[in-house]
Amino acid sequence: MAVERTLSIIKPDAVAKNVIGQIYTRFESNGLKIVAAKMAQLSQAEAEGFYAVHKERPFFKALVEFMISGPVMIQALEGENAVLKNRELMGATNPKDAAPGTIRADFAESIDANAVHGSDSAENAAIEIAYFFGK
Ligand code: PPS
Repeated sequence: MAVERTLSIIKPDAVAKNVIGQIYTRFESNGLKIVAAKMAQLSQAEAEGFYAVHKERPFFKALVEFMISGPVMIQALEGENAVLKNRELMGATNPKDAAPGTIRADFAESIDANAVHGSDSAENAAIEIAYFFGK
C-alpha cells in the first residue's frame, strides 16, 4: 500500500469544543502522522478559494461563513492510504449518517458544523496541502 498525504482541517466548531487533542489522538493511533500543522483564522478570500469547487452549490455561502467564524487547525497527515484512512476516521459528511466511533459521530452537531474536513483524493490532497503549506 502506498504512503500518501492528505489535508485535514479541524473546523471552528471542534476547535471551540476543545477536542483538537482527541482528534489528533485518533489520527496518531490509526497510523496517520502529523507532518505539518498550523492554527489559523481564515479570511473570507482564503475560505472561498479553498472551497471554490463548491461555489455554485446552495450551501457555499453558509460553508464559507462557518469556516471563518473562528480559528481552524490545519494539518497534513501522512500514512499508508492516508486519504481513505482519514475519510474513514471522519465518518459521513452529515453526522446523522456517520458510523458510531467516527469523529463526526462523536464531535459534530450538524451537516453545517461537521467538525472536520479531509481531502477526497490524493490529487486534491496535493492541491489542498500546497494551498495551505506551499510546496
Ligand atoms: S459533495 O456533494 O460530495 O460534493 O458534497 P460533500 O463533499 O459532502 O460536501 C462538500 C463540502 O460542503 C460541506 N457541505 C455543507 N456545508 C453546509 N451545508 C450543507 N448543507 C452542506 N453539505 C455539504 C461539506 O461538509 C463539505 O465540506 P468539507 O470541508 O469538504 O468537509
